[in-house]
Amino acid sequence: MKSVSANGGMTAGRDALSERFSGRLSVDPSITRKTVSYQGNRDTPGFRWMKYKEAFSRSLVEDMLDIHKPARMLDPFSGMGTAVLTAAGRGVESTGNEIMPVGVLTGRSIADAANGLATDDFMTAGSALLDHIRSRGRVPSEYGFAHVRITRKAFSPQTEHDLAKAREFLAKMEDGVIKRLLNFACMSVLEQISYTRKDGQFLRWDRRSGRSLRSKMCKGEIPSLTCALSYRLQEMANDIPAVKRTFGGRPPRFMTGSSLDLLRNLPDDSVDLVITSPPYANHYDYTRTYALELAWMGFGQDAFSSLRQQMLTATVENHTKIESLRLSYANAPGCFDQAMAAYERQQALQEVLGVLRSHIRELGTPHVIRLLEGYFMEMAVIVAELSRIIRNRGHVVMVNDNVQYHGEDVPVDFILADIAEYLGFRCVDIWKLAKGKGNASQQMARFGRREIRKCVYRWRRI
Ligand SMILES: C[S@@+](CC[C@H](N)C(=O)[O-])C[C@H]1O[C@@H](n2cnc3c(N)ncnc32)[C@H](O)[C@@H]1O
Repeated sequence: MKSVSANGGMTAGRDALSERFSGRLSVDPSITRKTVSYQGNRDTPGFRWMKYKEAFSRSLVEDMLDIHKPARMLDPFSGMGTAVLTAAGRGVESTGNEIMPVGVLTGRSIADAANGLATDDFMTAGSALLDHIRSRGRVPSEYGFAHVRITRKAFSPQTEHDLAKAREFLAKMEDGVIKRLLNFACMSVLEQISYTRKDGQFLRWDRRSGRSLRSKMCKGEIPSLTCALSYRLQEMANDIPAVKRTFGGRPPRFMTGSSLDLLRNLPDDSVDLVITSPPYANHYDYTRTYALELAWMGFGQDAFSSLRQQMLTATVENHTKIESLRLSYANAPGCFDQAMAAYERQQALQEVLGVLRSHIRELGTPHVIRLLEGYFMEMAVIVAELSRIIRNRGHVVMVNDNVQYHGEDVPVDFILADIAEYLGFRCVDIWKLAKGKGNASQQMARFGRREIRKCVYRWRRI
């Protein structure tokens, strides 16, 4: 009997994938919600300095390093650097590519602290920064926090003034490690001292901001910049010995930019292990979540839009990158052509897209179709490049979530496994968490409660 999806569409393509990969699906009790999320990093010296909520935890990376014992590892979506810093601390030559400057600054700051930082000099400069913020006097308007639309009203007038003072101090410092660490320390407390809270897809606003009349959120007491910053600087100073022990030795190489460009420059067979977690195909917009931090780093309105477009497609606002990718591969189209073939022949994906197209008028936004096309096409390019870069019998370990749109299950784990197998890998394991995620409440009301798999996959280069 043919099975049908929640929308009465075909599921034959997905059923076939399920039959092929179900045997490789298992629950590994050591992989939990804590290990695949930032929760596991909360108490780790260094990683606890910045709440990069999309991170996975160090323990997951350690387990994979214990199993695979790589000499060279890569994370093409390195975020705050959990994987590369953990590997570097064990003497592994490690490279992280990351497009969000917030993640790169965090990772570099931890690496700086781990490798040769003079703690006394750092603390002396930190005290001078705090004294300057507390000092009386006007601050030239050029140092004012350069807001973009979505950050306006994020701070009280006093905090705005204090941030301008901090910027004035930093602008006059000589470039170098200590300036970078102080800049990072200021960035790391912005959420705490603001009227905002990072919450799922958007920034939520405290009603005191005056920004949203409907907001009922109240963060409670909001610390001043000097209070939050002195706490952070002290925490950093206390953590530095442990950070040196854990992550010191061989600093990772951090590259800022899109892996859709950067991977092309890495040599063939140059990596033993990839540990990574790409963005999920779930609408999540990093540029919104990290709006305050990006504005602190000097991103204006246009730079925000441009960064959003360069990120791996995961939101309905992303436009297709296919033509620009085709152009950039014009001289050596090998990986691009293979990726396109892997993408186009993927039947389960084409099946989901077909069902969604036939219900296009009922979709909240028709652009979810473009989102899914872009996501898998770009991931196919990433997988094709990894297949070239990883040595024979090397591995990819990837954390990712399945998704559901308009009641249609999108088995990201199986679709990527099929794409990976076409491109030269063998999917060895798909470890799923004992408990998946619930579907979104609107989806639940309409299509019933469904559990969505959250998995860690392991593919071997063959
Ligand atoms: C799930 S997070 C990874 C977090 C990381 N594992 C950690 O522990 O911090 C995905 C990351 O991919 C980054 N990203 C999105 N598009 C990218 C691209 N085209 N190239 C490189 N990084 C990208 C995002 O900024 C985000 O930091």
